Amino acid sequence: MEALNSIAKPSCFLLLLGLLLLFANAMPLLAHAKTHHHDFVVQAAKVKRLCKTHNTITVNGMYPGPTLEVNDGDSLVIHVVNRARYNVTIHWHGIRQMRTGWADGPEFVTQCPIRPGGSYTYRFTIEGQEGTLWWHAHSSWLRATVYGALIIQPKQGSSYPFPKPTRQTPLLLGEWWDANPIDVVREATRTGATPNVSDAFTINGQPGDFYNCSAKDTVIVPVDSGETNLLRVINAALNQQLFFTVANHKLTVVGADASYLKPFTTSVIMLGPGQTTDVLITANQPPARYHIAARAYASAQGAPFDNTTTTAVLEYKTVSCPAKCATKPVPAALPAFNDTATATAFTTSLRSPKKAEVPTDIDESLFITVGLGLNKCPKGVRKRNCQGPNGTRFAASMNNVSFVLPSNFSILQAHKQRIPGVFTADFPTKPPVKFDYTGNVSRALWQPIRGTKVHKLKYGARVQVVLQGTGIFVAENHPIHLHGYDFFIVAEGFGNFNPKTDSKKFNLVDPPMRNTASVPVGGWTVIRFVADNPGVWLMHCHLDVHITWGLAMAFLVENGVGELQSLQPPPADLPLC
Ligand code: C2O
Repeated sequence: MEALNSIAKPSCFLLLLGLLLLFANAMPLLAHAKTHHHDFVVQAAKVKRLCKTHNTITVNGMYPGPTLEVNDGDSLVIHVVNRARYNVTIHWHGIRQMRTGWADGPEFVTQCPIRPGGSYTYRFTIEGQEGTLWWHAHSSWLRATVYGALIIQPKQGSSYPFPKPTRQTPLLLGEWWDANPIDVVREATRTGATPNVSDAFTINGQPGDFYNCSAKDTVIVPVDSGETNLLRVINAALNQQLFFTVANHKLTVVGADASYLKPFTTSVIMLGPGQTTDVLITANQPPARYHIAARAYASAQGAPFDNTTTTAVLEYKTVSCPAKCATKPVPAALPAFNDTATATAFTTSLRSPKKAEVPTDIDESLFITVGLGLNKCPKGVRKRNCQGPNGTRFAASMNNVSFVLPSNFSILQAHKQRIPGVFTADFPTKPPVKFDYTGNVSRALWQPIRGTKVHKLKYGARVQVVLQGTGIFVAENHPIHLHGYDFFIVAEGFGNFNPKTDSKKFNLVDPPMRNTASVPVGGWTVIRFVADNPGVWLMHCHLDVHITWGLAMAFLVENGVGELQSLQPPPADLPLC
């Protein structure tokens, strides 16, 4: 203070000089934040997998799409042109989009879709996020092939909270249909039955050694003996949680969903669709070729799933024939598809690296059931449109509301322009009736209602949500993703959440921060966040089949005080319906 006073008093000239010096000091910091420009052309391209060529929807003809690499603090300007025959939007999964909700991407939630022939420029800034995220189409099932990695390096001049890895490799786990995925979901929507499961899983777009016509294209991840490398594993699959492992190598988990974690070592990780996990791997094994592998963690008892295994190869560079020429890499051991114990051991091992700022005095407490439902065949609808169990149609809901997307305006636009009749702000904060959620649920409770319901939050509200899985039709693990936020996972467990006993188990010290929580099969997860980002934010199950059936809701977070707590005005090129 004293120094400032002595500068300010003598003359305006000195004050000006002081300000100039201050500005000059800030310059190097500002100079480092970059703006990255990209063109994304959504277009069909020939992609051959499992012996058959498809006209696949891609970005820039690439499958998977381009990797975006930025530093924390940078801005992105992505001009998306739609040259495909479907509507499309792009979502930047996990990016907080502070005040830039118009760039978030879910169709009919924050924007109308980009029509064939149309375009839209997404503009946003990365604020305080480091690690691995990804981007994907957020329209129908296009994300089956329209996706890519979004890597956020530490701010210029700062470093990782672990020794710098020699190499970094994004590994995108995907799901491949030997059919047009849009046809698959359209067929399911027509019949009301479950859609066909995929025909292959993929690593960076390739199924790997165990599938027809695939082995020669298996992805190779090169490594030098002694190196420690970072694998950025992303579950971009549509409908399947996956176990991931590398033969004979330990994985040190250091981050998830672009938040760092207290490092721990494991041989297998589990990712739900939407989730990412950063692992360090040290090449400390005899030079050889080792399988990197992923397969389903399929928790719904008796439900069909893709029971295949995708592989890539971790290849030591010094390997020579015969090992290199041999067709069989060292095999990887993966858990059984129903190994919930291993999945749980993993998700409950995650911790924030240091004491976390977990919100405590909770302003808004929600209890939300998540699960399936069955709609009775509506009157006048043909039998062939009701091919779900016992002549029903499959549905899914949160608190018994099966979410319906609007079609004439996005919810965000309706909110900002006060357009009535698009949504209602009466999403229930608890289920309509209390029942034994994970027990044998009476058939009378299987039928959800339909609605476009949001829950309003005041700016700055400290929110707790209990996500309670149900046993309706079948219990299963649900990867619940919240747009626009990272949240703390303070606890998870099996059975019905009991506020008295389970609240005592909350980790309010170092819970992990994520954007997608794995709600255990027949169990619950409790998340907390502060509503500091105004806008409309979808929360949904990241199994696309469940979004299709309505397993979603949205938070409408109001503006706070002043510009810095308010949503920016909509961009001029925002697509309209
Ligand atoms: Cu990655 Cu709404 O999703």
